Amino acid sequence: MSNGIRVRRDVQSLLTDGDDGEQVLRDYAEAITKMRQLDPGPDDPADPLSWRFQAAIHGLPGLQPSPSHPKLWSSCRHNSWFFLAWHRVYLLAFEKVIQFHLDDDTWALPYWDYTKTDDDTSRVLPAPFRSPRTNNPLFTSRREPSINAETNPQSLPAEFTDAIDALKRLDYALEAADSTTSFGGGIIVDAIPGVRARGTLELTPHGLVHGGVGGENPPGLMSRFETAGLDPIFWLHHCNLDRLWDVWIVRHGADALPDDQVWLDTEFEYFDTDKQKKSKPIADILVSADLGYSYESIEPPAGTPAPRPRRFVRTLMAEPEGPEVAKPDIIGATTRVDFSRRSAVPIGIARRPEARGLVAPGGDGGTERWYLRVEDIEGKAPAVPAYGVYLNLPDDASPAEHADRRVGTIASFGITEASEPAEGGIGVTDVFEITDAVEALREAGSWDEESVWVTIVPMHVTGEAEDGGDVRAGRISIYAG
Ligand code: C2O
Repeated sequence: MSNGIRVRRDVQSLLTDGDDGEQVLRDYAEAITKMRQLDPGPDDPADPLSWRFQAAIHGLPGLQPSPSHPKLWSSCRHNSWFFLAWHRVYLLAFEKVIQFHLDDDTWALPYWDYTKTDDDTSRVLPAPFRSPRTNNPLFTSRREPSINAETNPQSLPAEFTDAIDALKRLDYALEAADSTTSFGGGIIVDAIPGVRARGTLELTPHGLVHGGVGGENPPGLMSRFETAGLDPIFWLHHCNLDRLWDVWIVRHGADALPDDQVWLDTEFEYFDTDKQKKSKPIADILVSADLGYSYESIEPPAGTPAPRPRRFVRTLMAEPEGPEVAKPDIIGATTRVDFSRRSAVPIGIARRPEARGLVAPGGDGGTERWYLRVEDIEGKAPAVPAYGVYLNLPDDASPAEHADRRVGTIASFGITEASEPAEGGIGVTDVFEITDAVEALREAGSWDEESVWVTIVPMHVTGEAEDGGDVRAGRISIYAG
């Protein structure tokens, strides 16, 4: 602590710090116990300073999401450019509630940084959360058992925790249809948008870590909006996402954030420790030091490449930045793809002859770009946390042995909620850039200019799963140009 700025610490480094470090987690556990004492019963969160009330702000079973509930219940904002900002305000208010119960305004929420590419142990759920000893407030059995095992825990798959792909994105937000190619999400103005548009970070690592920790058989606390806030690790997970937002800002500059007044003026409400509702506009929360905290580290994960020059960035829907950049065209699609088991679908591709081999001036990064869109993914009961998306995966081949053919991973987290009628009922759409994969397939002689096979593989944290649940996509389409 210096200058009144509290440091949000890396939970792994707290745990190697001996007693002082561990005290931060003991304090957290103590505050959780006090918060739980304020809850009369599971169905009636009465006090804004209680555990269930705080979790209910994210979601409450049976209560449809709405941004305007009088007690703020079920008000979390997902699948858009409001995702990080809403959760920043939520986290800040929660941290203050913990400080209130500890009577210590220097206490800072730790973060779980599972994104360390040079440390496999970072992907293991931190030990204090896995210990089922009696009355451990940090433990819950409602998680994926292999991840939650006290001894020999399974670590999250590396493809669930990757932050590099998100940190590379130059655009904070893009038109909703293009959102997964942005860092922060789709631009929407309505509370219930026509396209559920999660950004790269919201998908990976955010959604995959939710599903990986929660599991799906049955869904654990972390696997649904309406229960996620009841798992003590939720807050450390979101603290890490909030930190990754700072990592992105430092990397790309604060002026890369949206300057749209609609976004800057959007306010999010929270309950202060005097139990009064207050609110903050996004414009006031963009600098974490102004909010009284900083992070132990805002280094990007080892191996994060330097940002690509902006003039070469080509997005799917937005108008190109420069005359040398063409907008990709749809070149093929297939409808109604079933995710209930591994399924391979052929997509015929037909490109405008003049577009073939299009190369823009400027060399690397100026060549054509390819995208795969998986649209309107919906379902009530995913049976796995994730679905791997592969290009030209040979029949019966093990996906694990063909990691190079994986072009993306779809998170189950959020699919159930986006399939609710109150949320528009249209599911989520994810977009993956496949330029490098197409290039590699061409080089390997495994590419056909007329058709491509897309394989969807239901994924458990331990590998391929047989049953993917009732999830399906309305359409899968390919863009190039
Ligand atoms: Cu609003 Cu990670 O969830």
